[in-house]
Amino acid sequence: MYGLVNRAVEQMVRERFGAERWHAIQARAGLEDEGFLALRTYPDDVTYRLVAAASEELGVPAPAVLEAFGEYWVAATAQASYGDLMRLSGRTLPEFLQNLDQMHSRLALTFKHMQPPSFTCSDVTPTSLVLHYHSTRAGLLPFVVGLVKGLGEYFHTPARVEVVATREDGAPCDSLRVTMAA
Ligand code: HEM
Repeated sequence: MYGLVNRAVEQMVRERFGAERWHAIQARAGLEDEGFLALRTYPDDVTYRLVAAASEELGVPAPAVLEAFGEYWVAATAQASYGDLMRLSGRTLPEFLQNLDQMHSRLALTFKHMQPPSFTCSDVTPTSLVLHYHSTRAGLLPFVVGLVKGLGEYFHTPARVEVVATREDGAPCDSLRVTMAA
């Protein structure tokens, strides 16, 4: 996973819990005391270890860490560094979700070694849709839940997010029903 992602985890922990907590998490994850380079790729294992260490150190279940990270990512990284891309990708929450795949294809031009996730939508109504999440990686569904909630805040469109199918239970992909306040 690109260092950009690990860096955002670091930034979130530092902002919310301080430098000391971050160093404890880094040590628990068995990582060197050096920063992540945004455009370098790191083994996925580094990200998983960071999440596990943060979960243990902060006493919060790993899925909750991932969900909080998803919300943080939209508020901090996506808006701060990729504002133009965010604006180009849709004017409303449902429009944006239906363009997620295109957004990631654009990102793959910059992040050449990226293994991007893929998203499709079905059952689209004026107030809800089902978002299908495809990935080569396991265990990141709570991250997507947080991302979608973060996008709801970004668009000032409170959204309820329910997991309706998971790969873990044998479905071909993970699926989330997103319901927007009418
Ligand atoms: C505009 C800001 C964004 C940037 C710059 C960005 C960039 C990235 C990068 C670099 C990765 C690592 C992939 C790799 O190294 O193989 C990643 C992963 C991911 N991104 Fe984005 N992303 C953005 C917005 C979003 C949004 C809005 C979503 C909403 C669902 C999203 C969903 C994901 C997921 C789920 C992953 C984990 C990889 C996987 O599932 O396999 N991203 N993103």
